[in-house]
Amino acid sequence: MCGIVGYIGHRDPLEIVISGLHRLEYRGYDSAGVAYLPDGAQQIEVIRAVGKIKDLERAVQQKAPVPGIHHVGIGHTRWATHGAPTELNAHPHRSNNGKFAIVHNGIIENYSEIKRRLTEKGYVFSSETDSEVVAHLLEELYEGDFRAAVVRMLEHLQGAYGLCIMCSDHPDMLIAARKGSPIVVGVGSGETIIASDVSAIVNYTNRVIYLKDGDIVTATTSEVDITECNSMPVSRETSEIEWDVEQIEKGGFDHFMLKEIHEQPEAIANAIRGRMILEDGMSVLSGMQMDAFDMARVDRMIIAACGTSYYAGMTGQYFFEEFAGLPTGVEQAAEFRYRNPVIQRDSCMLAISQSGETADTLAAVREAKRKGTRVLGICNVVGSTIARETGAGVYLHAGPEISVASTKAFTCQVAVLALLALGFARTRRMSMEEGRHIVEGLQQLPDLVRRVLETAETIREVAERYASYENFFFIGRGYMYPAALEGALKLKEVSYIHAEGYHAAELKHGPIALLGEQVPVVALAPDTPGKGKTQGNMQECLARKSPVIALATEGDEEIRTHCTDVLFIPKCPEFIATVPVVVVEQLLAYYIARARGCPIDQPRNLAKSVTVE
Ligand code: G6P
Repeated sequence: MCGIVGYIGHRDPLEIVISGLHRLEYRGYDSAGVAYLPDGAQQIEVIRAVGKIKDLERAVQQKAPVPGIHHVGIGHTRWATHGAPTELNAHPHRSNNGKFAIVHNGIIENYSEIKRRLTEKGYVFSSETDSEVVAHLLEELYEGDFRAAVVRMLEHLQGAYGLCIMCSDHPDMLIAARKGSPIVVGVGSGETIIASDVSAIVNYTNRVIYLKDGDIVTATTSEVDITECNSMPVSRETSEIEWDVEQIEKGGFDHFMLKEIHEQPEAIANAIRGRMILEDGMSVLSGMQMDAFDMARVDRMIIAACGTSYYAGMTGQYFFEEFAGLPTGVEQAAEFRYRNPVIQRDSCMLAISQSGETADTLAAVREAKRKGTRVLGICNVVGSTIARETGAGVYLHAGPEISVASTKAFTCQVAVLALLALGFARTRRMSMEEGRHIVEGLQQLPDLVRRVLETAETIREVAERYASYENFFFIGRGYMYPAALEGALKLKEVSYIHAEGYHAAELKHGPIALLGEQVPVVALAPDTPGKGKTQGNMQECLARKSPVIALATEGDEEIRTHCTDVLFIPKCPEFIATVPVVVVEQLLAYYIARARGCPIDQPRNLAKSVTVE
């Protein structure tokens, strides 16, 4: 995700800001930039570069800022969301009069509206980002009081932000604000460092203040004043950081996989934010570039993907068929590209890829385009090859996924697929009322995941008891079938245990021969229509002496008669149960792998992005 650093104090601000940006590199980014104020200048200077921080450093050296610069500066690492990773889209963004420079994390949901209004008033935009509106709004609202302009500007913003802002009229002041995107203030002696993440601060001071949503901080070299958005002063506790830098990069978690599992409530909230209208029971996905007329004409959906994304695609198939009655096929991308598939004229392909670089998925996209099919991409990495070549689709906004085993990308893919299916469904048989029910279900997702994460200790205890087994089965039916496949994949990826996902009813057509005391079965049996039948299959497993770990819905005490151990998910509508169930499976795989001492973030033989066939 994007990173923010701001500095005001007695040292060279560019040096501190760039060193802070280096510390944020682990978060993933595609471009970076800094802003500073040369001595005596009326306008802020901005230097930006696509690529790595060392490319930015080169650009800074070339521009060789004069020795006399004010001791204030801001910087940013950008992980593209709105607009490709280019120099113009990189932050900081500057107001037209050069008085303000801003860096922003988060998403300004109403930016198009603000942009339209400011453009009519003559403001010139130089980027495709949502963030740039902040700089121009400040110019519009500024009447000599920097802080007051920030307060008024924030009233116009909808969405999420972590902001750090400098103003050439006030070189002794740095202002930051947060709503939904973290901002931390490092309090040094005679200096203040503002950042999105403590790792950029820890080299200079271990005294930090974590801002709360709605806080605005005004920092000078000697003072830090915090107010709420209504300008009422508040006091926030100063904490001492005790972690080292590596721990901080992992947010205090032992592995990126665990950190990313825990990021899911926020990642899913980002994936669905601003993309649903409750009262119309509708989704709004402008990146698809399809209106209701185009959507109504699609007569077949083809989903192509690999690995975890393929299992998300299988879940998508259930959505498209159940919500929209739209015939949907899910294809392993590697197979699709060589099979000479039959594609009808009004088919639409959805290519799902976290990285947007998977060779087989890309080849499937190209083959479908050659056959004249409309292709949409569901990618996480903005500006990736699949995102570019499809030219239309939906970004996940899940933030960078560093652990090789995919976790948050999967749950965000499922959420986005439900939104897409809802959009298609509402051009067909789905009523407004039913649409609202789907929207309400999706809105619950972040909280459902949060509640599963609260049970992590119980999952760890169960995981540790089963960590020495060498073979596992995962079974489920309906929505729980792809979830079983994903659970088995997660376990084998990180723990090297042989695990197979099976349809609960298929077990008896062969694999049942392998069951026994040494082969545990994870049975996905939350409150969904197939639960009774899955319970029958669990009994078949118990009868063959396999230990059965059930994943069931909170309050289902009767499930204990069909299993050896049980892990619970909160009560939720059937169509979203995949998400909490998969989060339990992710934690189960993680804790088993940890108990076995596996290198969880980089399992042997696996790559995060597979760019070969
Ligand atoms: C690799 C990764 C998997 C991922 C798959 C597809 O195998 O290790 O975690 O699911 O590629 O990747 P994509 O980026 O296309 O989703």
